[in-house]
Amino acid sequence: MESGRAVAAALRRAGMKALEMDISEGFEEKLMRFRPKAAFLALHGGFGEDGGIQRALDSMGIAYTGSGPMASLVSMDKEISKRAFIKKGIPSPRCVCLSEGAGFAELERAVRELGLPLVVKPTSEGSSRGVSIAKSRLEVTRGLDEALKFSPRVMLEEYVKGREFDVAILDGTPLPLIEVVPSAEFFSYEAKYGDSGTRYIVNPELALREKDGIVGNALAAYVEVGCRHLARIEVILSEERGVPHVIEINTLPGMTSHSLFPMAAKAAGISMEDLCVRIAALALRS
Ligand SMILES: Nc1ncnc2c1ncn2[C@@H]1O[C@H](COP(=O)(O)OP(=O)(O)O)[C@@H](O)[C@H]1O
Ligand SMILES: [Mg+2]
Repeated sequence: MESGRAVAAALRRAGMKALEMDISEGFEEKLMRFRPKAAFLALHGGFGEDGGIQRALDSMGIAYTGSGPMASLVSMDKEISKRAFIKKGIPSPRCVCLSEGAGFAELERAVRELGLPLVVKPTSEGSSRGVSIAKSRLEVTRGLDEALKFSPRVMLEEYVKGREFDVAILDGTPLPLIEVVPSAEFFSYEAKYGDSGTRYIVNPELALREKDGIVGNALAAYVEVGCRHLARIEVILSEERGVPHVIEINTLPGMTSHSLFPMAAKAAGISMEDLCVRIAALALRS
């Protein structure tokens, strides 16, 4: 709700009429009664990000911000989006996906193929929940068990050592880059949401070629998946060969005053109020 509150407040400051609404039982009736010109989606996870709410709004004939049902679903599922990236030749770490009950041989084969360390993550979660870096077979098994708590499929992914960047894209145009420098070993749930020393560097030092590669791959992913209005794409620039690997697409990026998307917008001279009005206008246009 934090994003929703921040967006509604910004829209009101900009002179628009905005009503906050939770997606709970009976929200369809409430929406039909209110009949908004558009719905500004500022929710996270599950129904919000997997295309459910988008489908519901489509069927109610209510315009909304952000990607449609299909692009939302593809972005939410790391296994499906990975397939889309590979098809288009967009670099993304190699992976093997497993389901609950995967046998020892399967796991062995995956570890042999990807090498250690490797990253274990649920295919459909966000906020780094259930993500771990496994440095040994034992840690792979433990990570798998942990990730399975969050989704029925788990992705084992090649570990890419390098710098991590976020590319915020507004209506097809990339905003200034943000580098994420976690204090912990990797961008964990605690590092993201806890009171940690994670630093965000806007317009980080990069060679032009590196910057173009990061932004170019992020844009290619956005286009390939069919995103609309806005998305935030995570990219790791490999230290070894300078390859900008696309890690994931967030179709409903956080929109609080300290979130990365508004931070990138600010660096482009777009205030939180202007940003929210512009995104709302995109929904009304489509
Ligand atoms: N292949 C990888 N190599 C190195 N670090 C990774 C890799 N995949 C993820 N990470 C780290 O883990 C974090 C969370 O992973 P991510 O795929 O973004 O999941 P989530 O959807 O939970 O944010 C990333 O922000 C990054 O710091
Ligand atoms: Mg992420």
